[in-house]
Parts: sequence; C-alpha cells; structure tokens
Amino acid sequence: MSKVASSQPLDESLKNFSPTDPKYKVSDKYLPDKESLWPYAADQCGWVMVHNALRGEIIQFQETLAAIKARRGTLKAWEVECIQDVFIAHLYNMEEHHSTEDNILSPEFMKRFHYPDKLTDDHEAIFAQLDIASDIVKSLKTGDDTITTIGSLSREFDIYKECIFPHFREEETYGLPLSRAYFGPKEFQKIMSKGHEKNPPNPEAIGCFIHFNGVQSIRHFLKAEGIPYFLWYREVRRSYNKYVTETLVKVNALKAGVEPMYPKTSCFSCMSLSAVAEPVPFAPPYAASHDKSLGTQDGSSTNGTVLSDEAA
Ligand SMILES: [Fe+2]
Ligand SMILES: [Fe+2]
Repeated sequence: MSKVASSQPLDESLKNFSPTDPKYKVSDKYLPDKESLWPYAADQCGWVMVHNALRGEIIQFQETLAAIKARRGTLKAWEVECIQDVFIAHLYNMEEHHSTEDNILSPEFMKRFHYPDKLTDDHEAIFAQLDIASDIVKSLKTGDDTITTIGSLSREFDIYKECIFPHFREEETYGLPLSRAYFGPKEFQKIMSKGHEKNPPNPEAIGCFIHFNGVQSIRHFLKAEGIPYFLWYREVRRSYNKYVTETLVKVNALKAGVEPMYPKTSCFSCMSLSAVAEPVPFAPPYAASHDKSLGTQDGSSTNGTVLSDEAA
C-alpha cells in the first residue's frame, strides 16, 4: 500500500505552517480571523473528540486481540461472533467519520480555504488497509488456531493503526487550525447540524464517543456547543448504554476469555446492568496543549457502566 501519513510535514510548504498564511485564502470574502471567537481550546473540539474515540477503539481492539493470542488454543464460536461484532462496530464508526469529513466538512472548507489535498486523499489508502483486516475478520471460523489467524489479523490491524494515527494527527495539526481560523463556532455548528440532519450519527458511534472521552467532557461539550440538555436524556445516554451493553460487554468477554452474559432486561437504564462492564481507562492523546481550556477535561474514559439519571 502507499505510504499514508507520517510525522513529517505534509510537504515542504507546511514546514512553517500557519493557518493565517494568506496562501490558504480562497477569496477576500473569507479571512482567517475567527480563531479568537472559539470559547474553548482546539483539543476540546468535537473533531478531536471523535478522533479520541476512534483512537481508543483501535487500542482497545489491539488489546483484545493480544489477550486472545495470549490464551493460545483455538477460537470458540462465541469468540468469532464477538470479534466480528466489535470489529464491525469500529468499521461503521470509521466509515461514518470519513464520510463526515469527505461529504460535509471538506466541501464547506474548500469554499473558504485551500484544504491540503493529502488529508482527504489519505482516506482511500486507509480504507484499503482496513479492508485487508476486514477480510480476515470475515473469514474467521470456530476452531481456527489463534496464533495463526489472530496473529495475521493483529499484524494487518497494526499497519492500519500506523496509517490512521498519523492521519488523525495531521488533521488536528493542519486541518483543525485552518477550520477554526476560517469558521466561527456557530458557523461550524451549522455545517455539522445540516450534515447530521441528512445522516444522523449512529448510536454506536455516539456511545463510543462518550466512553472514550468521559462523561464530564461530554457534559461540557454539550454545553459549549449549545446542545439542549434534554438531548442527554433522549439520545446521548441511551446511545452510551447501548454501546456498553452491546459492544463493551463483548470486548470485556474477549479480554477475559469468558463467554459474555447478555442482560435479559430491556430496561436500558437499569443499574444492575453495570455488572457487565469494567473500566477501560484511556487517556486521549491530544494534538497540543492550549491556554483556552474549559479546565474540566479529565482525559479519562467513562467507567464503562450504564448511566443512570444521576450520571447526567
Ligand atoms: Fe480523515
Ligand atoms: Fe479524521
């Protein structure tokens, strides 16, 4: 596959990158003068928080594969099913994220500034690598030798991580400062709302977003974005509990080597469900430190339990 991303600047011209450099300007109608309008630091933007969730999910899947390999032996039917379900959840989240960037953000960005081509061009090669891992996941069978099959899945998934992590970093280093220079927070929110009206985010992605960013960060994110508080009750909490009871339970089962016990209740807020999940600590790697901090980002994941009213 082609080289996707690296820690080096995208090209020579980005060595002294500044989002206010006039070379990024498309016209005099839109100037790079909006950064000061943002009330919170760049690393607290939704874009970075989605990356944090995806980074967390990728590390979590690597840890899961490592635990299965360490047990040795052969794959059981429930393990095959859980690996496939957990992988597909990540695949959908990645597809949704890149679709948002390609179909909602990039077209709007390009109306105001020259968005580096590499940031969108990388997507094809990243998905080609994810497809290789996906083919292995689809072909998993009961009785497969874990050292061989999970070993080859781990290798391909590791390559995928080596592509996608620098890509996230490049978007946060170049794309994000440009977007904040050319769009105020209200304008950016309008773009996202319009996009989400057409393609609402799936509950799995919302749940993953909450888990890896932590409840406190989400509360402040909702407040900073002006998202009505009642949505916590209507959508956000429900999505998180779905993630815990449908995905995290499988991750924890695969790590522990014990077949998951699925809850027999339909009451999503029932506190007894907390028994199915264990804490999955994750400190999101931020793009940079900033002085405009809300002062509330604890950088931790949620504790992996379903959320009651009190948690909100
Ligand atoms: Fe991207
Ligand atoms: Fe991204």
